[in-house]
Amino acid sequence: MKIITGTIEELDALVAQEFVKVVNKKPNAVLGLATGTTPIGVYANLSKMCKEHKVFFTGVKTYNLDEYKGIDPENDQSYRYFMNKYLFSGIDVKIENTHVLSGKIASDAEAEKYDEEIANAGGIDIQILGIGSNGHIAFNEPGTKFDSKTHIVALTESTIKDNSRLFKSIDEVPTHAITMGLATIMKAKKIVLVAYGKNKALAIKKLIEDEPSESLPCSILKKHPDCTIYVDEDAYSLMK
Ligand code: F6R
Repeated sequence: MKIITGTIEELDALVAQEFVKVVNKKPNAVLGLATGTTPIGVYANLSKMCKEHKVFFTGVKTYNLDEYKGIDPENDQSYRYFMNKYLFSGIDVKIENTHVLSGKIASDAEAEKYDEEIANAGGIDIQILGIGSNGHIAFNEPGTKFDSKTHIVALTESTIKDNSRLFKSIDEVPTHAITMGLATIMKAKKIVLVAYGKNKALAIKKLIEDEPSESLPCSILKKHPDCTIYVDEDAYSLMK
């Protein structure tokens, strides 16, 4: 696992560059995408580079990590809404080639189908991940099995609390989600994990220092052959 530190602006640009490299080399690449606050700057860089004709997304397919259960794609709290707003509307991707799990029909059958669809598309060439303060990746909470595939999950108190900042009140945060599993994520050919802010510092320290363990879902990434973590000074602060 490689570690790159820098300012948020520098890291946003570097991570976007990694995506551009993959897409320029393979115009029909399969991209694994995340929501949350962290990737917004990366997506802004990608939109800018697309407008400057430095990269074209017309041939790519995208698969998002997760979606809240019970939420309509039109709902402004849905991850589909987020992706349209922060990335898909700013680049030349064909919207029918973008895949976000449906929160409305979140079911075990849909979960199974998602893994098959990704495999049939040729597998994910590059996957971006954020990280929860409890070390979750996607919505794989502490204790998730390392061999998990896409599945429905109950969110922990800590994740509900973290995400409540984006809702009017904590009671509005959905309690369940549908998420790619840890084994699904590990199949990506290349993984970039991005962590900004002091509230990620403990998870980053444990990720770097501890042995892989199901109590810290992100620690599975240490077993990946091509994973780089991009951490700003705050997220790296407990390492100094
Ligand atoms: C989002 C996702 C989550 C977030 C994580 C960090 O698709 O899978 O694991 O990446 O909760 O969220 P932010 O970036 O808002 O701190």
